[in-house]
Amino acid sequence: MATNITWHPSLSRSERNTYRKQRGFTIWFTGLSASGKSTIATALEQHLLHLGLAAYRLDGDNVRFGLNKDLGFSEKDRNENIRRIAEVAKLFADSATIAITSFISPYRVDRAIARDLHAAANAAHPEDEPLPFIEVFVDIPLEIAEQRDPKGLYKKAREGKIPEFTGISAPYEEPENAEITIKSAEKSVEEAVQEIVEYLDSKGLLK
Ligand code: PPS
Repeated sequence: MATNITWHPSLSRSERNTYRKQRGFTIWFTGLSASGKSTIATALEQHLLHLGLAAYRLDGDNVRFGLNKDLGFSEKDRNENIRRIAEVAKLFADSATIAITSFISPYRVDRAIARDLHAAANAAHPEDEPLPFIEVFVDIPLEIAEQRDPKGLYKKAREGKIPEFTGISAPYEEPENAEITIKSAEKSVEEAVQEIVEYLDSKGLLK
């Protein structure tokens, strides 16, 4: 950590939310490759934009072209990948934007770090509007993800051409307390989006 740095006080979230006329929060998608998380997250982003809300999606593949281009898929690199994304999502959410993240985020500890980062922002300013964190588990049996295999990655992983591939040669630790679980093999994208929107609405987050 750098030394000789001083935290500069910022505007409150309630002030930003009031002027931007919306709540900022993070929707954290997690699930296997080919589970449908990016498809559902993109459709959700579009739905929220159509409602007139500012929303922005951060995507696993895309972020690795820029911000996280120095990171691979070892456990350590995935930890750092998720840590950075959690920080970025928190900044978006703090700016009264709906941050939508779609990363495999296979380790429980990393998702807990992302959640805790948001909770710490709340704890630091209990008088301010909270910064909600909503975990969405896109749950699909591995066999179905593997049958789908839109990028041919499972096939390559089975042939030993991709090391540490999630679900094949690297772990995926299922969430135990996700706010929302979507069984993506049993639902259309529209139904999944509707379910998430209903949840957000029930929590008063879309006002
Ligand atoms: S992680 O685990 O959260 O750090 O992964 P993420 O940043 O979401 O990146 C996942 C996408 O990278 C591609 N890819 C791999 N996935 C899993 N394991 C290995 N070894 C791997 N190598 C490349 C793959 O296209 C993932 O995209 P999705 O959209 O999940 O299929």
